[in-house]
Amino acid sequence: MTIMKRAIVCIFILIGLLAACSPDKKHFLIGVSQCSDDIWREKQNAELRMGAYLNAHVELCFAAAYDSDERQVQQIDSLLQMGIDLLIVAPNQVQTISPAIDRAFDQGIPVIVFERKTSSQKYTAFISADNYEMGHVMGEYVASALNGQGSVLEIMGLKGSSPAIERHNGFMDALKGYPSIVVVDTLQGDWTEESAYNSRLLTSPLGEEKIDFVFAQNDRMAMGARRAIMERRGVSSLEEGLPRFCGIDGLPDHDGGIRLVRDSILDATYIYPTRGDVLLQLAVDILDGKDYPKETSLMSALVTKDNANVLLMQSDEIMRQSDYLDRLHARADNYLQELDTQHLINYLTYGIIVLLIISLVLLYRYHIGKVTLRRERVVNNLWNMENQTGSRLSPGPSLQGRGDDTPTTEETGLQGNYSPPYKGGAGGESGAVGGESEEPAVAGPTSHFITRFKEVVEKRLSDSDLSVEDIGMEMSLSRVQLYRKVKALTGSSPIDLLRKARLDKGYQLLVTSDLNVSEIAYKVGFTSPSYFTKCFKDEYGQVPGDVRKE
Ligand code: FRU
Repeated sequence: MTIMKRAIVCIFILIGLLAACSPDKKHFLIGVSQCSDDIWREKQNAELRMGAYLNAHVELCFAAAYDSDERQVQQIDSLLQMGIDLLIVAPNQVQTISPAIDRAFDQGIPVIVFERKTSSQKYTAFISADNYEMGHVMGEYVASALNGQGSVLEIMGLKGSSPAIERHNGFMDALKGYPSIVVVDTLQGDWTEESAYNSRLLTSPLGEEKIDFVFAQNDRMAMGARRAIMERRGVSSLEEGLPRFCGIDGLPDHDGGIRLVRDSILDATYIYPTRGDVLLQLAVDILDGKDYPKETSLMSALVTKDNANVLLMQSDEIMRQSDYLDRLHARADNYLQELDTQHLINYLTYGIIVLLIISLVLLYRYHIGKVTLRRERVVNNLWNMENQTGSRLSPGPSLQGRGDDTPTTEETGLQGNYSPPYKGGAGGESGAVGGESEEPAVAGPTSHFITRFKEVVEKRLSDSDLSVEDIGMEMSLSRVQLYRKVKALTGSSPIDLLRKARLDKGYQLLVTSDLNVSEIAYKVGFTSPSYFTKCFKDEYGQVPGDVRKE
């Protein structure tokens, strides 16, 4: 049983090793702290997720602060407590989030600041498009669209956020070259559509003033401002006299800037690249210990009516591809799950096979043990007539550790020193079975009679004519006297004992000689081999041929 238990433990260790041996890169957890939650961030998060599909050893954990400094600080601290290996962060404002980012950096967590800046130098890498540049390009565009003359309104993004500051600076710097362009006002928004809609455009005369161009720092605010002016003036989009609008972001989605430009709702936009794929690759490179750039500047482009259609076609194609990839990934996920199940089935099968092999080995060993035991008994024990006698006359010393009056091998005259398996004989006692050994007991006063009886039988074992009378005569006893004495001592009749002696001798010869079954049958006094076989089977439960094979 202990072997069995050990085998089961080994199997589980083996299964564990097999499972653990599957090659796996170190697993990394990346925390993504988004300052906000809108279609631009959604697109970027989707790209990050897609990048993680391709890098199975990284896992992402997203947090969105919904434009709240306080929430973003808490979220970064929570991500750190979770034990992230790298932090990707778009700080809501330049100053306010820096202490939390510094805490991450000081703990040795690599930090990638993206798209919005921090006031601290404690970051591992920075990645963004050039916000000053895009403000500048939009200034140039507006100036050229107005032929260098006209009134312009600017709507800024969240106060204190770096893109708002940089886009404003770029825009203003560009307009410096066009003195006939007047910036009538700069309104403060917070990147949301509502912030531009609920601005002074809706609530003050500004909404009715003559404005040629509205530059909003993103497309959503451009749409909010447009809605406010139309509402204020009570006009529809098709009416003349409305300012022209432009924004930034240029998303390709349904409500995105590129479509708005194509449909002449916005005059222009500027693609503010999300590039979650590049961002994730940067993170993976840092985690994998590869070389990486400290600053990455993402390419970008102006979108006008001239190129909006082409860009849309391209982005539709990209979206189709990414949708396709998504479906491929879902499918690959399915396959992986199936593979996992298959692995489990394999391990279980290995386990069962190993268990089966062990069971077979144990069974084989048990069988061999039985056979060996039988052989040993055949070779080592005496003719078990003594068992019968001894058992009836017990208690007495065992044959192996026998008492002084126990007949020796020499005394019994049996030269083979064997005992075939004893099948519960005339005396009703059972012999050793399957490894349990029952020690024969031998009695003193009567052993002489038994020894004498055995000598007579042994001497003439091959004589098929040997009768009870003959034995009686040799022992100077009548047939009846012999019967009574033998029966009283052994519980068996002399005839039974004689047959048993012939069979036991036959068994011994089967095991120890090369004689064939017929020769043995005759040698032990049977006149017919088939009768010998029958009696043998009745006595030992096996035919002689099987004993020989074993
Ligand atoms: C998205 C967004 C964009 C804008 C950018 C500035 O959250 O508001 O619309 O261009 O952030 O950081």
